[in-house]
Amino acid sequence: MVKTKIAVLVSGGGTNLQALIDAKKSGKIRDGEFVLVLSDKPEAYALTRAKENGIPTAVVQRKKGEAREIFEQAVLAELRESGAELIVLAGFMRILSEDFIKACPPIINIHPSLIPAFCGAGFYGLRVHEAALEYGVKVTGATVHFVNEIPDGGKIILQKAVDVLEGDTPQTLQRRVMEEAEWKLLPEAVEKVIGIIQKERNE
Ligand code: GRF
Repeated sequence: MVKTKIAVLVSGGGTNLQALIDAKKSGKIRDGEFVLVLSDKPEAYALTRAKENGIPTAVVQRKKGEAREIFEQAVLAELRESGAELIVLAGFMRILSEDFIKACPPIINIHPSLIPAFCGAGFYGLRVHEAALEYGVKVTGATVHFVNEIPDGGKIILQKAVDVLEGDTPQTLQRRVMEEAEWKLLPEAVEKVIGIIQKERNE
């Protein structure tokens, strides 16, 4: 079986990337291979994780005052060069334009809430968990979805609920959502989408 080529876009620590790498090692991701980890931040620890596991890396920074199209063209060039057939946003902190999304193979994203709650422009990082605590929800979670032109608005692939506990801070809640939902859900969603891509390829 020809493996589906996966590129992962990151900006930070890369614990979700690590979950993907671990899932590949343990066989939970069977039909995919990682061909590129691309970061918009040269200091992102995710790049180290990729290098330690023999995955090619690239850094594309958006310079001050540079048009978004220039940045996106550079990202697109790297993606094309890698041959990626599936793009995974794993803590990639930039909103992508409609033109970019249309020029790409399928893109999926992990968001740390149960969409449609606490999502869309401005809801990223700890802010998502702060908002969940401010609202007082008793259950939150994570969502993996396809990326379209609406931030966090594409078709949902998988979701997993996580309890909010008495005394939670944004940090404790973020950690629990990662451990109980994100790190499990993202590899599962990748394997699921690879199945869809390979089915289409064989039709
Ligand atoms: C995760 O919470 C993810 O849901 C969000 O950004 C964070 C990335 O963390 N989109 P990491 O870089 O994977 O550790």
